[in-house]
Amino acid sequence: MTRELEGLTFCITTFGCQMNKHDSERIVGLLESLGCIPVEGPEDADIVIFMTCCVRESADTRLFGHVMSLKNAPSRNDAKAERRIIAIGGCIGQRDGEKLIEDMPHVSVVFGTNTIPLLPQLLAEALHGEQAVAVQEESSTSATGLPAHREQRWAAWLPITVGCDNFCTYCIVPHVRGREKSRPLDDVAEEARRLVAEGVREITLLGQNVNSYGRDLYGEPRFASMLDAIAGTGVTRLRFATSHPKDLIPQVIERFATLPSLMPALHLPVQSGSDRILAAMNRKYARDHYLSLIDELRRARPDIALSTDVIVGFPGETEEDFQDTLSLIDEVGYHQVFTFIYSKREGTPAAAYPDEVPHGVAQDRFARLLSVIEKRAWEANQADAGATVDVLFEGASKKDPSMASGRTPKNQTVHVPVSSSEEAHALAGSIRPIRILEAKTWYLKGEAAR
Ligand code: SAH
Ligand code: SF4
Ligand code: F3S
Repeated sequence: MTRELEGLTFCITTFGCQMNKHDSERIVGLLESLGCIPVEGPEDADIVIFMTCCVRESADTRLFGHVMSLKNAPSRNDAKAERRIIAIGGCIGQRDGEKLIEDMPHVSVVFGTNTIPLLPQLLAEALHGEQAVAVQEESSTSATGLPAHREQRWAAWLPITVGCDNFCTYCIVPHVRGREKSRPLDDVAEEARRLVAEGVREITLLGQNVNSYGRDLYGEPRFASMLDAIAGTGVTRLRFATSHPKDLIPQVIERFATLPSLMPALHLPVQSGSDRILAAMNRKYARDHYLSLIDELRRARPDIALSTDVIVGFPGETEEDFQDTLSLIDEVGYHQVFTFIYSKREGTPAAAYPDEVPHGVAQDRFARLLSVIEKRAWEANQADAGATVDVLFEGASKKDPSMASGRTPKNQTVHVPVSSSEEAHALAGSIRPIRILEAKTWYLKGEAAR
C-alpha cells in the first residue's frame, strides 16, 4: 500500500525539543526509504508535516496559524495544492488527536508520539481521500528502531529513553509522551557503534531525564554504565540531555572526571531557587542540594560549563521567592540560562493552583533575571579569552557567511573568519584548534591556532 508514496515530495516543520527534532529525522529516514523526496518549503510539497510542541501556550497558537495559512498558501501548481496532504504529528497530535481534524478540516493525517511507524500507512489512506488518525497511548512499535536521516553527518542524537515519570506540576510532557521507557543498553551501544563507524564524531544521548535511565528495565538506574558503554565506542565527543537534579548521582558526576570524551558541559534545569516553589513544582530537591551538586560537578571537572532552565511566575511565586531564584543564578554563574514565563497547561496540577502571578509582574521578573543571566554568561565566557580550544565545525555561520561556526567542548559557539562560504562548508565536521580572540556574552570569536 505504501508503495503509492514513491516519488511524492514532502517537507517537515519541527517545533519543540530535541526529542521532536530527532523524531523528525526518523520520519525523513522512513519516508526516504519509501522513495519520497524531501523539499525545502510547502509550496513544492505533496505532503506537509508539522511536528508540534505544546509545552507552552505560545507553541499551540503558532501551529494553528501555520496550518491555517497553508490552506490558502500559493503553490506552483494548483492541482498539486488541491491534493496536498497536511499531517500533524508530535505532542499536539498526541494530545488533541481527532479534534485537530474537527477544528481544521483541511488536515488529513494526525499521528502521535508513539505512532511514527504508522505514518506511511496513514499517508496512503489520505491519498485515497480518507482522514486518518492514530494516536495510541502505548507504543507497540517504536520509532527508535527506524533509520534516521541526520541533519549533520558528523553529529547524532541518540534517544535512550522516551517519556517521563516525573510529573512536575506545571509540565505537559508526561501527559503527551507517556511513561518513561528505556531502550536496552546493548541496543543503544550497537547503534552508537554503527554511528561512529559511519563517521559520527559527536553523540548526544537524549531523554527527558537521562539520569533515571534503566530504572524500568533493570530495577535501578544504569546511566553511568550507559556513559561507559558509549564512551567505549571511541566517539570523540559525548554529551547528554536532560538531567533531573534529583537523580544526578555521584557515579555520573564522577564520569566527568574519568571519561575524556564526556564533554565538560551540563544542562541541569533548576526551575526555581526557592524551596517553597520547588516543592509546589514537585521537583523533589531543595536549593541546597542543587547547589551541592554544582560543587561536586566543579570538583570533578573544574572547567565544566553549566546551563539551566528557569520558570518565572509559577503560581504563588512571591517577590521573595523570585529573589531566591535571582541569587541562585548569580551564585552558580551559568554559561546559558533558558528562561520561560510560566504557561498554564490544561490537565496539569498547577493549572488549578491559586495565586496566579499577573503577566506584567512575570514579565518584569523575566527582564530582571535576564540582566543577571547576561552579566554572568559574559563573565563565564571570559575564562576562554586567549585560550586555544578544539572546535568542531558545523559550516558557515547563519548570520554571516564569511564566518565558519563551530562548538567548543563547553558547547560555546565560536565564529572564525574564512575566505569563502565554500571554505566554511569544507571545514564542517572537522575539529581544529582555535585561538579565542574575543569572548562575547553568547559566542566567541577566534582564529586558527598556529
Ligand atoms: N525534560 C526536560 C525538558 C522539559 S521541557 C527537563 O525536565 O528539563 C523544557 C523546559 O520547559 C522545562 O525545563 C521548563 O523550564 C519549561 N517548561 C515546561 N513546562 C512549562 C510551563 N508550563 N510553563 C513554562 N515553562 C515550562
Ligand atoms: Fe516535564 Fe519534569 Fe518530566 Fe522534565 S522532568 S519532562 S519538566 S515532568
Ligand atoms: Fe514540546 Fe513535546 Fe518536547 S511538548 S518540549 S516537543 S516533548
